Amino acid sequence: MKPVLADDAAIDYAVNLLRQGSLVAFPTETVYGLGADASNPDAVRRIFQAKGRPADHPLIVHIPSVNSLNDWALTVPYAAQLLAARFWPGPLALILNKKPEVPLVVTGGQNTVGLRMPDHPVALRLLRAFGGGIAAPSANRFCRISPTQAVHVEEELGDAVDLILDGGACQVGVESTIVDLSGNRPKLLRPGHITRLDIEAVLQTELMIIPPQSGQTNQSETRAPGMMAVHYAPETLAILCPASRLPEMIQELNFRNKKIGILAFNLERTENRLTRVIRMPKQADDYAQALYASLRKLDSLELDVILVEQPPNTEAWQAINDRICKATSAYQPLHASN
Ligand code: TXA
Ligand code: MG
Repeated sequence: MKPVLADDAAIDYAVNLLRQGSLVAFPTETVYGLGADASNPDAVRRIFQAKGRPADHPLIVHIPSVNSLNDWALTVPYAAQLLAARFWPGPLALILNKKPEVPLVVTGGQNTVGLRMPDHPVALRLLRAFGGGIAAPSANRFCRISPTQAVHVEEELGDAVDLILDGGACQVGVESTIVDLSGNRPKLLRPGHITRLDIEAVLQTELMIIPPQSGQTNQSETRAPGMMAVHYAPETLAILCPASRLPEMIQELNFRNKKIGILAFNLERTENRLTRVIRMPKQADDYAQALYASLRKLDSLELDVILVEQPPNTEAWQAINDRICKATSAYQPLHASN
């Protein structure tokens, strides 16, 4: 399926497809989503098939306005009103207790529902024209790198999707921050562009941080399965490497005739027969925007190993570190030794 420029005619066509229960991939400010009518269980089931995603992994419902919260959430707590007023439209998903009529297939069997009003002109036009909620996970195969350009969706899902709306490269580049407001205390389920401190400043309270889970989770523990340890991963073995150890790693791998790709931060290195280098931006926002496309690029080069140079570890880099830890967590020994 070739991406289609998201003009008015394409949006009309997309709305028709959604109404028929078909799948439409569309851009958001974070990553591309694979959308279906959230009120149509059969349509939502097709998302799980297309992604190869287990049925207990809940989807985020994208909504056209703050008011639409009331269509999906049983109650809208004051904290949710504050966060939506401050950050929507934007890269923040809220987990709230669901109304009984929200299909369980959307929520992975849970009594809570994830809701987000995205900040992308194409997503907002589509949502307003459609009028309802669009359930949409990232438009990649399960556990793989999220797409930040329309062509990535084509690479990931091929003809499993009925239409790909092209709205250019995503501005934010990593998935939304997820805050769970369904319990007594607000919890941060996934870090994103909107930071923990941003949220705490609005709520005037500390967020509980849910530690990453290792490996597969059983259902009773499943809160945000995107937090599974291995996720967002390239197919090539990827290793996170502190700057201080990078030169010896490169030397060792080159000595063993391995083809390597480096996602470099400070390292200055010229390319050679065995070594490809992508210099990453120095600002966290720019780094995040470039991260998935850069990993995808290195992944396409048939390399033996991708080395990711450890970027800074301050608050602004939290979402980036979360994603690169998961992208590199198939290789444990280095983590264990650092
Ligand atoms: O930025 C984003 O959020 C993108 C764009 C397309 O909006 N979407 C996205 O969806 O990243 P997905 O499905 O790849 O990740 C959504 C995460 C999953 O980890 C899921 O487990 C969690 O949100 N989630 C959704 N509903 C939930 C719920 N009711 N309770 C706990 N976690 C939930
Ligand atoms: Mg995803």
